[in-house]
Amino acid sequence: MSVRISPSILSADFGRLAEAERAVAAEADWLHVDVMDNHFVPNLTLGLPVVAALQEHATLPLDCHLMIEDPDRWATAYAEVGARNVTFHAEAAAAPVRLARSIRAAGARVGLAVKPATPIEGYADLLGELDMILVMTVEPGFGGQQFLDLALPNVRRARALIGDLDIWLQVDGGVDAETIVRCAEAGADTFVAGSAVYACPDPAAAVRRLRAAAQAAGD
Ligand code: DX5
Ligand code: ZN
Repeated sequence: MSVRISPSILSADFGRLAEAERAVAAEADWLHVDVMDNHFVPNLTLGLPVVAALQEHATLPLDCHLMIEDPDRWATAYAEVGARNVTFHAEAAAAPVRLARSIRAAGARVGLAVKPATPIEGYADLLGELDMILVMTVEPGFGGQQFLDLALPNVRRARALIGDLDIWLQVDGGVDAETIVRCAEAGADTFVAGSAVYACPDPAAAVRRLRAAAQAAGD
């Protein structure tokens, strides 16, 4: 199985984002950037100007996870400033097909995210418009929360829906060297980890450990 690790800078020092990216650049596949608007989730982080600035300094592709209301209005701009992947929430998008096509037309991969209790089956007919499904394994909004095992059936059902399609299956929330095993066994291949990477004195080593654990579980 090919495994991708996307460290979340939500758990990094926001005054040193470029350094946080460099700390994992040699080991990670993507850099996960959590955009929160204090409406879709009860937390506020950063937005387009910071992503555009980070894009200038980062060598890793940016994986933008938009936890915002009205992604129909805002998401394409993240692709336009160069994000490699733009993920919006199914619960927030008014016209997900139009939005997915708009993001792809701007040159980025498209991700569709669902919260733990949003069944992925409702979006089965959209698969052809997507490059990735993100099944949240915590309620979105904060780093450092406890992994929710109750989200694993949704991961398994997403894997079954994907079948032979070339769609990556990402999990995000409470992913560490132990829970990543359960996620990989359920069929995830792309893993976000915030505190498990940036609370570690050696973030690059943490990424290596996560990759090894996921790889061993997925084989
Ligand atoms: C939470 C964010 C996550 C967060 C994960 O809503 O979407 O990306 O950074 O942090 P950890 O890995 O600490 O749960
Ligand atoms: Zn995230």
